[in-house]
Amino acid sequence: MVMDNNQLNIDNDSPALHRNKLDFPEFLENKLIECDRELFLPRKNGKPLVVGDLAPGPGAIILQSNDYLNISNHPEIRKAQIDILSNTESEPVMSAVFFHDDSPNHCFEREMAEFAGFESSIVCQSGWAANVGLMQVIADKTTPVYIDFFTHMSLWEGIKVSGATPRSFRHNDPEHLERLIREYGQGIIMLDSLYSTIGDIAPLREIIEIAERYECITIVDESHSLGTHGPHGSGLVAEFGLTDKVHFITGSLAKAFAGRAGIIICSSRFAKYYPYMAFPAIFSSALLAHEIAGLRATIRVIRESDDRRAKLRENAKFFRDGLDALGYNIASQSQIISIECGLESDTELMRDALEKRNVFGSVFMTPATPKTRSLMRFSLHSGLEKQELQNVLEICAEIRDEIGMWNWKSTKRKST
Ligand SMILES: Cc1ncc(COP(=O)(O)O)c(C=O)c1O
Repeated sequence: MVMDNNQLNIDNDSPALHRNKLDFPEFLENKLIECDRELFLPRKNGKPLVVGDLAPGPGAIILQSNDYLNISNHPEIRKAQIDILSNTESEPVMSAVFFHDDSPNHCFEREMAEFAGFESSIVCQSGWAANVGLMQVIADKTTPVYIDFFTHMSLWEGIKVSGATPRSFRHNDPEHLERLIREYGQGIIMLDSLYSTIGDIAPLREIIEIAERYECITIVDESHSLGTHGPHGSGLVAEFGLTDKVHFITGSLAKAFAGRAGIIICSSRFAKYYPYMAFPAIFSSALLAHEIAGLRATIRVIRESDDRRAKLRENAKFFRDGLDALGYNIASQSQIISIECGLESDTELMRDALEKRNVFGSVFMTPATPKTRSLMRFSLHSGLEKQELQNVLEICAEIRDEIGMWNWKSTKRKST
């Protein structure tokens, strides 16, 4: 229902309608115009490519969520949060440095550490804050930092904040990593366990073996594998039996944990210093009590979700095999399944063709991918039924000519 100003009781002459329209100086104007030229003008609908024309309608199949175990509405998690919110005592709103050992935040940190098989963990405001804060503490401009080219932007940002020079190695290429270490020496190795763009998995054993040989520090971002992989969801480092060989696991708790937080999993020696050295810990406020209560309930739910993990694996395999049989070139080994349309105009065609048929994936484009390798990314969850995925596969079969799939570079790479 659309209300007019009279119904809303807004006086048209009131100062509220004289909104701030200050002009910007040229240096910012130029940036905005550049963004217009890059993002808005090339698109048929005048919106950035990531935003389609249509919103999901009734019966839409939505393959965009990172809530891989489909638990964001779980009654135990909601109840834990509501119980805290219903409590009339006001909660402290402050930086985490002031918390004592028995605070719910520190209890959650001990529970996360135990869950992952480590001594300690540090809860952060987001996965972004975790990666940036960690790098700010452990690196400086003299530290060689080796980073897989596809690693998440938050780790690249961490390098920038630390002042170090990134030495990027080719995606999932341990030999290239080793050559760089021989050239630049002992340092920090950064990678994702499961890559958020194309859904493939890092050769963790090989990379950690190199890290040990050259006595490097390792940071593995497990944002997309905590909760979904490993014993009771404890992640891929645990699944590969590498828990005692990795210095830091970081992660966003806005994926399978379906919350709004991040985590650094580490030794207790390091956890002692972090709150007093990391700027995001000192100068930014802690999570609220109901968020922590929700996350504590979430660990319990995740531990007990082997059935959801099995269903997620089954769904992902079914969908990957189906797309592969249709001729789509996919690199996925997980619940993140991306189709490389390549040119942005081709991704736009595919996005529109799917949305017309009430199917919604996510467009990944620059700066998340190289400019000519944009993607249509599907993220699956355990609540999807086979029939829904079968419907999407039938649509993907039907639109192949319309979207020009046979002529994409990725299709040609597959057939050679
Ligand atoms: C691999 C990876 N690391 C870190 C982050 C940042 O997490 P958050 O959204 O919690 O800031 C993301 C989120 O997209 C991610 O995919």
